[in-house]
Amino acid sequence: MFSPAVYIRYGFSQISYFSGCYIILILIIMSTAPAIFWPHSEHWSVKIPVNTSHYEMPVMKDKGYVIMKTLDISHIPSSEWENLTYMDWKSGGDTNFAPLASCDGTLECKGFWENGKPDKHALFTTNTELCPNLMAYIKSIPANFGRVRIIKLEPQNHDQALRSVHRDDNNRLNPEGEGWVVRMWIELTDNPDSYMLLYDSDENNLPIKESEAHVPMPKGAHFVVDSQRLWHVGVHNGTKPRYAAIISCESSPELDAWIKSKM
Ligand SMILES: [Fe+2]
Repeated sequence: MFSPAVYIRYGFSQISYFSGCYIILILIIMSTAPAIFWPHSEHWSVKIPVNTSHYEMPVMKDKGYVIMKTLDISHIPSSEWENLTYMDWKSGGDTNFAPLASCDGTLECKGFWENGKPDKHALFTTNTELCPNLMAYIKSIPANFGRVRIIKLEPQNHDQALRSVHRDDNNRLNPEGEGWVVRMWIELTDNPDSYMLLYDSDENNLPIKESEAHVPMPKGAHFVVDSQRLWHVGVHNGTKPRYAAIISCESSPELDAWIKSKM
């Protein structure tokens, strides 16, 4: 039989043995777990200006985004987005894009500035012939369009998506004093568990963690984002690709009134 002294010594050594293992296990987990991504001052988006003398719509000033009434798009068959010609173009995750309007009317995804043009006065592409119902709505928007595209986004959870968070360079070559280019979304597939992840920018053009906002993406979700001011990325928790129309629009008093009428 053990004396009390032996029992206490054995008990303490057992405790210190297990706590030592526990600490080692925690250290192993900490060294192998991927760090959560967060943009720093070297991120390419930081150089994109936020404050300029372009015309900005009053409706966008407060938060930098506006959620409009959900659209009933049940009359639009899925062939209007599934049967288009998609380009392998990565932006904000594992994406492909079907251009509906581009800088020169070709199935082109690159920046308009590469053709010496700001992101407006776009020309419609041949893809539009395959989506007449969707185009009928898009053409009802009273705006000077820049790039208009269907995005096909493969699933990515919050942490995966965060690695692609960015701000858009919507206003490169856009003359000061003219309308600030913003982006509008129409969600084509039903993904109520997915959301547009948004962060406003601080004085150093870096994202403000406390300003995090989620815009849900059920079918027909319709929203506008000042995507040059707000850091953004789509979090897609589904198992199938998410499709959405992304429409670049030049700000104007008429578009401001139209957005307000849709809220
Ligand atoms: Fe973007």
